[in-house]
Amino acid sequence: MTPQDPTTYSDLEQGKIKHIDFRIRADFSTRTLDIEATYQMQSPIQGSLFLDTYKLSIKDAQGNGGALAWELDEEDEVLGQRLHLKGLDGADRFTLTFSTAPESRALQWIDAEKTAGGKHPFLFSQCQSIHARSIFPCQDTPSVRFTYSAEVEAPEGLRAVMAAKQVEASDGGGLFHFQMPQPIPSYLFAIGIAHLVFHEFGPRTGIYAEPETIEAAAWEFAENETKMDEAEKLLGPYMWGRYDLLVLPPSFPYGGMENPRLTFLTPTSILGTRGQTSLITHELAHAWTGNLITNATWRDFWLNEGWTTYAETRITEVLDGRDVFNLNDAYNEKGLLRLMERIGMDSPHTCLKLPGDEKDADSFTTAVAYYKGAYFLKECEYAVGRERFDAFIQKYMKRFQFQSITTEDFLDFLKAELPDVFEKVDVHQWVYEPGLPERKNRPQSYLFDEVGKVLSDYEQGKRPTQSQVAGWHRYQVLAFLNNLPKTIPVEDCTYFDEILELDKANDGAFFSPFYTICVYSGYQEAMPRIETFMSAVGRMLYVLPIMRAMIEAEWSKRLARPLFERIRDRHHQITIKAMDGMLKKAEL
Ligand code: BES
Ligand code: ZN
Repeated sequence: MTPQDPTTYSDLEQGKIKHIDFRIRADFSTRTLDIEATYQMQSPIQGSLFLDTYKLSIKDAQGNGGALAWELDEEDEVLGQRLHLKGLDGADRFTLTFSTAPESRALQWIDAEKTAGGKHPFLFSQCQSIHARSIFPCQDTPSVRFTYSAEVEAPEGLRAVMAAKQVEASDGGGLFHFQMPQPIPSYLFAIGIAHLVFHEFGPRTGIYAEPETIEAAAWEFAENETKMDEAEKLLGPYMWGRYDLLVLPPSFPYGGMENPRLTFLTPTSILGTRGQTSLITHELAHAWTGNLITNATWRDFWLNEGWTTYAETRITEVLDGRDVFNLNDAYNEKGLLRLMERIGMDSPHTCLKLPGDEKDADSFTTAVAYYKGAYFLKECEYAVGRERFDAFIQKYMKRFQFQSITTEDFLDFLKAELPDVFEKVDVHQWVYEPGLPERKNRPQSYLFDEVGKVLSDYEQGKRPTQSQVAGWHRYQVLAFLNNLPKTIPVEDCTYFDEILELDKANDGAFFSPFYTICVYSGYQEAMPRIETFMSAVGRMLYVLPIMRAMIEAEWSKRLARPLFERIRDRHHQITIKAMDGMLKKAEL
């Protein structure tokens, strides 16, 4: 085991994977991918090689001119099984044949009737953080980067897409060819197979979706080419060729996933208002902060998400203006403090550098890395001024491109390039100590303060009128809903539902805090609506808070497990695991 990284079985002293050639056949009837993969190592292996796997069935291993001996160790619920390949003395290539399990953690197989079109099935993957191992044996750590090629056989009528360069299909229908010439960590491997059409936005950008959603999706994200230009101004040249989007079914567990060249996207971001396009700004920024420079371990997750959130807000400032930028800053700070209070201000999980004892990397995914990380970088920017910090950003991107680095690598570089940051900002406190240090550069937001006033009036017994909330920016509505008291009278639930026109907005980001309040407030009549929402939407940011409320509220406790059992087969394994984990923890 790599000593610093308890999330993987791999031992990097044995050598690192350099390239993989995949042949993948998708079988929707058995919900399996049958795969043959030829691995090229950076240097010859001396004997043994350990790889991560999760519920893979290994059929054959060939290397050194013959069959290789191999062993699968005992299964760990989080890490899966260590694959021990033997007899690789002096060999730097080997071939494995295997299939994925129907319950592969990375894959969701969706029956035709649950897709937008209703006629063709849909398959998509989600490998971050440690689920690539449930598709192929690998050194499933972000510190190992490899290139790959893939030939994918998809059923008649379906199209395969990957987070890679599509090479012209020469064999006609059914076979698709891809190449990923830039080295990526395993968590950025991604595949989708579905009935898809393509819409082009501009020379480098486009979108894949089912025919039923393409039109709305194409309108929603039509500004992507402009976004690319803005991102390049801040971060330097885009190194991945194309930037396309893939619209997934609503059970996708995240808002977006920054798979290189092809961001995977929740359809809940298609609002008909372009109101959630900051999600794209975020995923696009990852093309630099995350994909070009990658956190070497999940303990350094803030290097991915904090940097990306920082870049996202900088691009938003240009595209949406200073008022929205300030509103967003204030809204996120409030959310971060709420979260920190919940997990404990002095919890090590509020540090940017996370504790090293946790093997389930998905549990590292909290708002701390995102917002505390971004606020830290804003403080650094403020300390030296924007001009110098912007020059630093460009230099940082060049210096570490296509590398995986630790927090300490970053801090060494910061110290060398901008030593005065360390005089003005308590870097050690920000990175290694819990809680949120005082921010010297904390913008005021009159839009946020307006909401604060309405909230404090409400707490004094004065409900807002419809005209007061009418023209509110989306973040103002969010700030309002997220900062209401935990429980309110049931008639106020219906009142807010009406004046905020929640049904008309049809925004999951509103429904999530709203339904959470409904549950805590004992608004039992809302349950059918809540169940419909929770069975359709898998975006964990939206559904997990509602599930937590159901588990915590006395009246709904006993309903939580049965509800989960009714909706579980509509969800991705990652969502199922998260919900099941919450229920088990509460002994439900
Ligand atoms: N890379 C993340 C998604 C992720 C994080 C997957 C950790 C697995 C483990 C992605 O870039 C992300 O942060 N998505 C957010 C949206 C964003 C606008 C905050 C999401 O899904 O909510
Ligand atoms: Zn992100």
